[in-house]
Amino acid sequence: MMSEERKVWFNGKLIPWEKATVHIFSHAFSRGSALFEVFAVFPSPAAPVAFRSDLHMQRLWNSAKFLGMELAQTREELEKAVVKTVKANRLNQGYVKIVAFWGIESFANLVPDVKLDMSIFAVPATVDYGDVSKPIRACFAKWRKIHPESMPVEAKAAGYYINAMLARRDAYQRGFDQGIMLDTQGFVAEGSVEAVFMVKDGVLMTPPLGRILPSVSRQSVLDVARVIGIPVVEKAIKAEDLMTADELFTSCTVVRVLPIGQFENRKLDKAPGPISRQLIKVFDEIIGGRDERFKQWLIPLR
Ligand SMILES: Cc1ncc(COP(=O)(O)O)c(C=O)c1O
Repeated sequence: MMSEERKVWFNGKLIPWEKATVHIFSHAFSRGSALFEVFAVFPSPAAPVAFRSDLHMQRLWNSAKFLGMELAQTREELEKAVVKTVKANRLNQGYVKIVAFWGIESFANLVPDVKLDMSIFAVPATVDYGDVSKPIRACFAKWRKIHPESMPVEAKAAGYYINAMLARRDAYQRGFDQGIMLDTQGFVAEGSVEAVFMVKDGVLMTPPLGRILPSVSRQSVLDVARVIGIPVVEKAIKAEDLMTADELFTSCTVVRVLPIGQFENRKLDKAPGPISRQLIKVFDEIIGGRDERFKQWLIPLR
């Protein structure tokens, strides 16, 4: 689709992509307060489907609540607007990004008392996420995950991603693809925009909620593992545990199971390992609409 044909849903109307702008003086831009969500859209015979968009919507409302902000739409209105945006952009496979923000100009006022503006984008899967078909190289990032007493880490707000940017850049500068952040107590937290999993002696492990974003992909990996009989534990993981794990992978909306083939200077010879492979296979079936057990995860956009 040519760029001039792309449409953005903006406060109730579909407008041309180029017109979806905010003022530099806006609170969202100058303070980094925009809330957002991104979820995947897959093709299916009747209509494109959204992967667990109900959980993403719920998280958007939770983000607003955690940060004392108010959305101007109801859940139902937003769901309808998403369908409209996907249709208007003829999106079959890709991503929906929802950005709720204080577009209000705000120089001195740190706490605007107005409802959030709302925008919805539907972008094709061709956006540049790099090559996600190969195992990645990951490392410890030198930056620590924001402490949950500094900001509610359960919210997904733009400003938090300075922390994510620093961690990712640190990894790039050392020749890695992703950096895993520890929390301020030294336990494994998460990647810049991904949850972290390890396998040890047949048990799948991931850090508990409370210090990380409640990721939909993380939840989905845990749900799938439980259904297919992989033992799972959510527990504090020490940094050194990553150095002796049998398998490691990260998980996010773009790639639900992304094997780590090298962690720091250690090569994991079988990446993806057997448990990762099992999960990848089930997820392929799920997103292809072929696994009845998880059909309700694919929400028709019609
Ligand atoms: C900090 C952080 N952790 C984890 C994730 C993965 O979460 P989800 O699967 O809900 O996209 C994201 C996604 O953007 C993220 O920003």
